[in-house]
Amino acid sequence: MDVIISPSILAADFNILGRQIQEVERAGARYLHFDVCDGVFVPSISFGMPVLASIRKNSGLLFDVHLMIVEPIRYVEEFADLGADIITFHLEAAGERTMETIERIHKAGCKAGLSIKPATPVSALEPYLGKADMILLMTVEPGFGGQKYIPSSTEKIRKTRSLLRARGLDTDLEVDGGITTGNISVVKEAGANVIVAGSAVFRGDITENIKALM
Ligand code: DX5
Ligand code: ZN
Repeated sequence: MDVIISPSILAADFNILGRQIQEVERAGARYLHFDVCDGVFVPSISFGMPVLASIRKNSGLLFDVHLMIVEPIRYVEEFADLGADIITFHLEAAGERTMETIERIHKAGCKAGLSIKPATPVSALEPYLGKADMILLMTVEPGFGGQKYIPSSTEKIRKTRSLLRARGLDTDLEVDGGITTGNISVVKEAGANVIVAGSAVFRGDITENIKALM
């Protein structure tokens, strides 16, 4: 599988967001990672529908929306209508409504991503393998960019990829948080094929940063 870079706009300069997204696109990124933080599921508040609506008009990138919110099922249709391509939510937020949320995302015409926090074991994903189109393993505590990669994540990536392989699934495996040129080969070798990068893309020269990660 070739590796997909998904720049996280949480690290962008919102004063010149449109220009930076164009540069991301020109540099060859295919996804754009869109971190929605509600201040409840995670301690920070980021952005929501108006930002998605305004950038959707001018970008052909695949919108990889990461909902770090409680009760994500409430907003599935709204994010789908605004142009999300993948809607990823947290198992810890959806709980027993996880399968229902996956089904609602599919019904809304989007791909469904399922994410777990660092402390949640990979085994919690097992009932949903084959149902979710993408698994997102948080490699930092969700809510903030610019954190350090949690080294124990590498084993979780390896374990998740082997669970998928054992089921004959080539589900996308996305990693998110603290990924840099210094550790991207480790996470790729462990089985990740979609790489979220915020500070590693938006701090400094965007074009050079994306090329260095590819
Ligand atoms: C954290 C977000 C991540 C974050 C990544 O809650 O889900 O997507 O923006 O930023 P970096 O790459 O700087 O860790
Ligand atoms: Zn994210």
